[in-house]
Amino acid sequence: MARSPKPGPQKNLTNPDGIRASAYCSSANLGAGFDVFGLALDHYKDTITVRWAGKGGVILRVEGEYKSGIPESLSDNAAGPPIIEMLREAGIVGRGVEITIDKGVPPGLGLGSSGATAAACVKALDSFLHLNLTNNELVRFASLGEAAVTGNPHADNVAASLLGGFTIVYDKTPVRTVSIKPPSNLSVIVTTPKLDLPPKKTRAARKLLPKIIPITSSVLNTGRASAMVAGFANGDIDLIGHGMEDELAEPYREKMIPGYRSVKKAALAAKASGVAISGAGPSIIAIVNKRRQSPEKIGQAMVKAFSTEHVQSSYFVTRPAEGAEIIKEG
Ligand code: HSE
Repeated sequence: MARSPKPGPQKNLTNPDGIRASAYCSSANLGAGFDVFGLALDHYKDTITVRWAGKGGVILRVEGEYKSGIPESLSDNAAGPPIIEMLREAGIVGRGVEITIDKGVPPGLGLGSSGATAAACVKALDSFLHLNLTNNELVRFASLGEAAVTGNPHADNVAASLLGGFTIVYDKTPVRTVSIKPPSNLSVIVTTPKLDLPPKKTRAARKLLPKIIPITSSVLNTGRASAMVAGFANGDIDLIGHGMEDELAEPYREKMIPGYRSVKKAALAAKASGVAISGAGPSIIAIVNKRRQSPEKIGQAMVKAFSTEHVQSSYFVTRPAEGAEIIKEG
């Protein structure tokens, strides 16, 4: 049960210079773990600064490299609902709060951009308001931001951005999560095609999914998801890769990504251990044991396969990231 956090004593709530926190991007689902699995990625990150402002109310500002198109209204930005709820639960009334988002995670790639914003915001506010929330409470607040942006309060991306490593959201009401440290030889290749995507892409991608799935698909996904958890627990990258096969979302979403099958085939032929759509796409994530195969070769094979399908794309190689962190205490 999530408890209502008690505010710290008012004298401790000064923080004259503000609090700053950052959170990395992430890849959700990882194939078999739709809305359950996430992996924090050490590539892009959002940074949030929270300060007291003179007047009452919340001022939200968006700055940074990827600020274009990111709303500053509290109802449309992933930071908005967590801010409102955390201030309400902390009993803060009549004080102004200024929140600045340095948007370092590009939106629309399937890399948990809104989740990184919500995660960094919740991490900063927890420290700013001296709430000392548990990990599960932090994830619950952050998932309110996903609900605002995608229409569904899934917690897979926010859990990864908040806790770092490989994360499992294993229950919903209340939210329960666990994080496993990935093996150090795990390399991640993210390839992104240049496509015209619908506005509110995640909502659109979720609408493609059936409401009811056959029990045979459920059985296959349970087996593969279990393989993935065992793979992360034992540091077995091939087992993790096996868990990236998916019956629930991939068959319905792959049509959003022209050439997906060829690109997946090319990555596996280049010795990737597993390949999946990253979140709601359009990026594709592949994993490999970097001591056995060059991640660059896999990225190149994926880009080449896209180009054979007349789709431009680019890739980057990264690794799992740590969780959200406080950068500066005022
Ligand atoms: N689990 C989510 C989905 C992640 O696949 O729709 C994207 O927000």
